[in-house]
Amino acid sequence: ICVHCIGLLCVVGGGLFRRELLPKPLRLASKQFCLHRSNILAPPLAVATQIIFPMPSMDSGNFKQSQHNSNINKPKSEHFARRQNIEQQRKALPIAAVEKLLLEEVRNNDTLIIVGETGSGKTTQLPQYLNNGGFCRDGGIIGITQPRRVAAVTVAKRVAEECGVALGQKVGYAIRFEDVTSSSTRIKYMTDGLLLREALLDSYLSKYSVIIVDEAHERTVHTDVLLGLLKTVQKTRSKGVSDAVKNGMPLEKHNGSEVFSTLKQCRGKKLSPLKIIIMSASLDARVFSEYFGGARAVHVQGRQYPVDILYTRQPETDYVDATLITIFQIHMEEGPGDILVFLTGQEEIESAERLVHERLPQLSESKRKLLTFPIFSSLPSEKQMKVFMPTPIGFRKVILATNIAETSVTIPGIKYVIDPGMVKVRTYEASTGIEPLIIVKTSKAQALQRSGRAGREGPGKCYRLYPESEFDKLKDSTTPEIKRCNLSNVILHLKALGVDDIIGFDFIEQPDRIAIIKSMELLFLLGALTDESKLSDPVGQRMARLPLDPIYSKALIIASEFNCLEEMLIVVAMLSVESIFYAPREKLEESRIALKSFSSPEGDHLTLLNVYRASDEFLQKSNLVNSKEKAEKNLRKWCKENFINSRSLKHARDIHSQIQRNAEQMNLHVTSCGDDMLPFRRCLAASFFLNAALKQPDGTYRALSSGLTVQIHPSSVLFRTKPECIIFDELVRTNHNYIRNISRIDYLWLAELAPQCYALQE
Ligand code: CDP
Ligand code: MG
Repeated sequence: ICVHCIGLLCVVGGGLFRRELLPKPLRLASKQFCLHRSNILAPPLAVATQIIFPMPSMDSGNFKQSQHNSNINKPKSEHFARRQNIEQQRKALPIAAVEKLLLEEVRNNDTLIIVGETGSGKTTQLPQYLNNGGFCRDGGIIGITQPRRVAAVTVAKRVAEECGVALGQKVGYAIRFEDVTSSSTRIKYMTDGLLLREALLDSYLSKYSVIIVDEAHERTVHTDVLLGLLKTVQKTRSKGVSDAVKNGMPLEKHNGSEVFSTLKQCRGKKLSPLKIIIMSASLDARVFSEYFGGARAVHVQGRQYPVDILYTRQPETDYVDATLITIFQIHMEEGPGDILVFLTGQEEIESAERLVHERLPQLSESKRKLLTFPIFSSLPSEKQMKVFMPTPIGFRKVILATNIAETSVTIPGIKYVIDPGMVKVRTYEASTGIEPLIIVKTSKAQALQRSGRAGREGPGKCYRLYPESEFDKLKDSTTPEIKRCNLSNVILHLKALGVDDIIGFDFIEQPDRIAIIKSMELLFLLGALTDESKLSDPVGQRMARLPLDPIYSKALIIASEFNCLEEMLIVVAMLSVESIFYAPREKLEESRIALKSFSSPEGDHLTLLNVYRASDEFLQKSNLVNSKEKAEKNLRKWCKENFINSRSLKHARDIHSQIQRNAEQMNLHVTSCGDDMLPFRRCLAASFFLNAALKQPDGTYRALSSGLTVQIHPSSVLFRTKPECIIFDELVRTNHNYIRNISRIDYLWLAELAPQCYALQE
């Protein structure tokens, strides 16, 4: 890779698709949904697995709604009743009937694929069966990976409750920036990305006796890489055992497989062969089975009641509006039962929620008993848990969810599903290197999963907000993420695991060669790879260990050289959370004034630093005279007064403490540049140089690496100032290419600090 002159290059810039939704009048009376009924009942799914476990009879199930209250401080009788209720629920799950068969299958097969409909009990029950079946003997841990943080957290809470233990003891979870496990944890839920990180520290994953890759049908990039890694780990660990046999090592019987106690290759660790279980909600197990050399696949049949599918007669131009109309139509015309709505992201969900509440007062008093509950990945877990609470008598619940509710979390009580047929996905444009999040049509598989949610506890209805002819045109399944994302993180990770030949790596599906090359270019320019494409020491090695995007990692690593790591840790933590500022429509002017008190003429990065420091100062003062709880409460009040999102700020504080720990473990010097912000701004230029842009005569900017014309987002403190040369954090593609989180730099710094990219023209 060789780049010589200014304005060349590859790569990068995140993107977020944001929708603005304006309040609209309730059109209930004027527009009724013209829905027609198709004959589709339960989803017609083909079975491609080898054996099918018997389906328990329909009426054996007595599904009560899950109650997710904590048991603490509850009267004993209530606690007892709840435990009994949970026990009954567990016994009634379809998977309960095949517990013994499943354990037998796991004992007999080192790799097993389990396919089962959503809600059959795979995620919550199987780990408990394995634990009871002796798979944690000798201290082995059962690890269950989830593509989504929210699923890892909610399921771990549920399973801890089912086991009657405190979360973090026998049952725990670990997600990025949050570890709720202890030495007694035996059932550990975690994100797939987190297990990949653990592999960097322990390449045999030696503390796990079983690893369950859950929701494998989602085919996230982490799941795909993890599958490749597990294949190798399993081989190594099995080889360890057979070598031990050859060398006459002592063996003991353990769940049908051998354990060897001492083996030099494994640094004296007690290591058993690794059991791999791949769980998927999609019935096509072939791809996983073939990848694991013809591994055995079994099918746990769930309980699925008929679901009426209704389509619109005409295509809908505004699916959010159509969703609102459908919510109210169901509420006014249909019998009891909760509604699950699939939207594409947080902003859309929050707007829809607001619109429902704006329109509710137009209904008669008796019809206003409609409750809304959002659920999306970045929602704090206490709020996520609310969707599992039973609906109060006389009310109807409307759950506004992202595609997280397709398979990752099962919400009880749903009878109606509204599916606008859209989903937000990340894409990667290799030509510009940007990764916009775009809203696309779902696949047929997703549409079937969504409608299936309506038929878990009884017959239901699914309202697809598009004509039936559109369904036939949908893609069968979603393209795996590895085929449409920036691979720099994956490559960094694989290199750190010792995989040098990325193109030759045994991926379940090969990523695009061009995407691999572009991502390697990015890593090379950041100094993470050497000329021989090896991980550089120490920059690349350190970048791989930080749980951040490569550019943020690079910023932290070089900040210690610029003597401003204290500042950079704060700024990176603040950049890692969703919007710190909020500007409610009705208080725009006030929020602008509040922002002004923090804003720095140098740009948004220093503005974020000012906010963090001001909040920290406030909290410390408040801590001196108040209890911790009171001080936290005061901080929330302070945030409200200053139009700061207290939830995001809290998240940023958590991230800050974790990355500060990471930095200290790497012996990076956490020092401050004091009042002189020049070194900090130079450090920004030295790390974000791939996101540099120059002002054009017409006031727009040209992003130097991609050549794209971009504009400063109105939320930036530099929106009006428009400096000559800037660096930005992310590129948001709406109707314009907006750049967000911007700082002013001197263009001469680019040539000085990133000579691998930029040179001054003679
Ligand atoms: O993984 P799978 O989709 O097969 O099912 P699961 O997630 O194990 O869910 C089994 C049952 O547990 C469902 O009936 C859920 O309603 C219930 N559950 C719950 O009540 N609360 C949770 N946080 C998770 C699951
Ligand atoms: Mg599951």
